Amino acid sequence: MAIQLAHHRPQWKTHIGFLLAAIGSAVGLGNIWRFPYLCYKNGGGAFLIPYFLALLVVGIPLMILEVGLGHKMRGSAPASYAMVSRRWEWVGWWQLMFVMFGIMLYYTVIISWCLNFFFLSFNLGWGDDPDKFFFSEFLMKSGSPFEIGDVRTPILFGLAVVWFSSWFIVYLGVEKGLERANKFFMPLLFVLMGILVFWSVRLEGAREGLAVYLRPDFSRLADVGVWIDAFSQIFFTLSLAFGIMIAYASYLPRKSEIVRDSVVISLVNCIFSVFVGLGVFAILGYMANKTSQPVDEVVTKGIGLAFVAFPKAISLLPSFAGIFGMLFFASLVIAGLSSAISIIEAFTSGIVDKFHYSRGAIVSILCTAGFVGSIIFTTQGGLFWIDIVDHFVNHYGLVLAGLLECILLGWVYKTKRLREHIDHASSTKISWWWDYSVKLVIPTVLIVLLVNSLIKEFSAAYEGYPVLSLVLLGRDWLVATLFAGVLISMRRWKVAPEERLEE
Ligand code: PHE
Repeated sequence: MAIQLAHHRPQWKTHIGFLLAAIGSAVGLGNIWRFPYLCYKNGGGAFLIPYFLALLVVGIPLMILEVGLGHKMRGSAPASYAMVSRRWEWVGWWQLMFVMFGIMLYYTVIISWCLNFFFLSFNLGWGDDPDKFFFSEFLMKSGSPFEIGDVRTPILFGLAVVWFSSWFIVYLGVEKGLERANKFFMPLLFVLMGILVFWSVRLEGAREGLAVYLRPDFSRLADVGVWIDAFSQIFFTLSLAFGIMIAYASYLPRKSEIVRDSVVISLVNCIFSVFVGLGVFAILGYMANKTSQPVDEVVTKGIGLAFVAFPKAISLLPSFAGIFGMLFFASLVIAGLSSAISIIEAFTSGIVDKFHYSRGAIVSILCTAGFVGSIIFTTQGGLFWIDIVDHFVNHYGLVLAGLLECILLGWVYKTKRLREHIDHASSTKISWWWDYSVKLVIPTVLIVLLVNSLIKEFSAAYEGYPVLSLVLLGRDWLVATLFAGVLISMRRWKVAPEERLEE
């Protein structure tokens, strides 16, 4: 049985297929609407210093760890952790649980908004007041997290399309589904973004926008908050501590360039972010110019950027405005989908490794459950729910899981063993500094992030939301996924995780 399984583990057909899939997971909505805003808020070009430093000090080392671990253990996150120590298996399940039944549930809803806005772009359907349109007509936002209201039908339709497409891709398998989809999606995304950026920077006023984006204000580097933003963005944007890179790397052939690939994935992702920022700020500069406002007045963050500021700017374009809108929202949909499928795959591989159920059945059940679970976020109170769940999962779930991951691999397993494996498999070698990074630097960074979040949490209710909603939707959401994760980890393995590797 063990022999059969080892031979049946799916494999990427091509090296570039793996790279594109990993980049597809990393490049997501976060690159397009979060990074440019963070950069603007935290000293413009000066933010690139902490950002790239974070990439170098924690991003790349952790990426090497995840790719190396998945490659060595040839298993999903829970299987890989279980092979280090059975007692730590729950960490892997917890990661998969809160990403799949936390992040993924609302992430797909946001992709559905993008899909709706793609169609609205045809005739600039958001009208003269995109702000009012988005919140009052599209979301029909309620007054508080406790007023759920009705399901918004257009969002529900979009959501069904998003889940169906994700299901379809993952159902087809690693090579025929994920690899093929990403080989199509990623080049397309790069081309679309290239067109958008090129188009934007040639608009009138673009220069002022770019100046605001890239004007370095080095004095901001004295603010600890800027560093915190840089480091926490690196974890999210590289899909680290999600269990995804471990699963993707488990489908690599034995002889693989672990170090070089990790560097390529991380760099492409971060350079892509900086590049997208050029387009975003150029178009904001154009809008500021048209409406005779300073650029600072038109900058908004996250959701407001994509669904309010952008539609406003698009409506002001002299020609082909609808096409610009379609390109922009299509890019968001593609970036989002290629990240969404990576989560479904990571979860599926976890279940296949442990229980040996049929892959197709798991994907189908998972996507149906995910779709049903997402519906709550399509209601009129959905935006509140998204905001709260997102805040808690990212500030506590990811950070804690990342910390446990580093403790497990740095201290319980000993980095040296993993380093030897990585050096053995790849021609580019890593050195002793990597051990220190995993054992000390990354955990220290994560502890600082955690303490900082906790201090803020207790000093004021997040966004002024009712405390009860924060407890129920934030804390308890995490606790529930933790509970589910621990329960799954207590079930028996069909074949012991170590034996799966015998050939
Ligand atoms: N790296 C993704 C992003 O920046 C984060 C993510 C990965 C979210 C996978 C969901 C699924 O958007």
